[in-house]
Amino acid sequence: MNPLRSLILAAAGSDTVRRVVTGAPATRGVVDRFIAGETVTDALAVVTRLAEDGLYVTLDHLGEHTEDVQQAEEAVQACLGLLDRLHSEGLSVRAEVSLKLSAIGLGLDEKLALDNAYRVCAAAEQCATTVTLDMEEYDSVDATLRVHAELRRTWPWVGAVLQSYLKRTEADAVALAQPDSRVRLCKGAYAAGAGVAHPGGHEVDLSYVRAANTLLAGDGYPMFATHDPRLIPLLRERVHWYGRKQGTYEYQMLYGVRPDEQRRLAAEGETVRVYVPFGRNSYGYLMRRLAERPANLAFFLRSLASR
Ligand code: FDA
Repeated sequence: MNPLRSLILAAAGSDTVRRVVTGAPATRGVVDRFIAGETVTDALAVVTRLAEDGLYVTLDHLGEHTEDVQQAEEAVQACLGLLDRLHSEGLSVRAEVSLKLSAIGLGLDEKLALDNAYRVCAAAEQCATTVTLDMEEYDSVDATLRVHAELRRTWPWVGAVLQSYLKRTEADAVALAQPDSRVRLCKGAYAAGAGVAHPGGHEVDLSYVRAANTLLAGDGYPMFATHDPRLIPLLRERVHWYGRKQGTYEYQMLYGVRPDEQRRLAAEGETVRVYVPFGRNSYGYLMRRLAERPANLAFFLRSLASR
């Protein structure tokens, strides 16, 4: 992993860094770029705007690593409230929900997280939409895939995420390329040790393409989450090679990243889904965006210096 990226991800755990970043006026600019706002109303306004451009959305109510049962319950209630509004405002055909299991109790008890995820998936079914389980730190991958497998027994449409920086991902892609599966393939946004992760960007890209081939050759619905200007044309070529028709796979990008490319692909008939985070707990999400791209860090530091 790029040393600057490792440094930022490691610093993200420090309370001092958290105080500086969350207290800095410069944070506002970064927040506005990557986050839809604090409330469900803010998020739904963004869904409506993106839908006008032919884009689909997956909504993330920000929050992760809850420390007690009450916090986990609040996260579940936030998801249920979001689903309710999506449905009542006729937006559930355009938007689904992304769920972090650590927000609904995975760090406390796997059974609690499973029960809570059941409630969210049951509500999503009522609202005629879907849920995708975000993938988080390496030490939660097995538990997340276990919960995913359990949920799929009732709802085959529950999505999983694979991170191509992990060496295990090719095997996981084989296991998940099943009929009706929905699998988001991304590079991975967390710090992961050399033993379990590919050492550099090139290996991560090769792993991405191998997993993409596996998913495209299978019977599921692959969701290619990347902004990489070299990978996207390659994926389009692979899609063609496997004889996949538009609508049997999709591209995904983050809110605020390459919006022109999102619209360009949609205008060419591709299904494009934008990951839209909203809420107050933006720290972890923002630190991962800063770590991904030195230019984002420079943007943050410049605005800090100009105050
Ligand atoms: P890469 O990082 O190589 O970037 C390629 C190019 O994209 C850059 O040169 C730049 O132009 C642009 N770009 C990328 N990131 C940018 C940023 N932050 N700001 C501005 N420009 C940027 N990860 C994870 O571990 N678990 C998960 O569940 C998810 N979920 C998820 C959903 C969706 C829809 C997306 C798009 C991504 C994720 N990720 C994720 C994050 C993912 O793992 C990865 O960290 C980022 O997508 C960046 O990787 P790229 O594939 O874009 O390539």
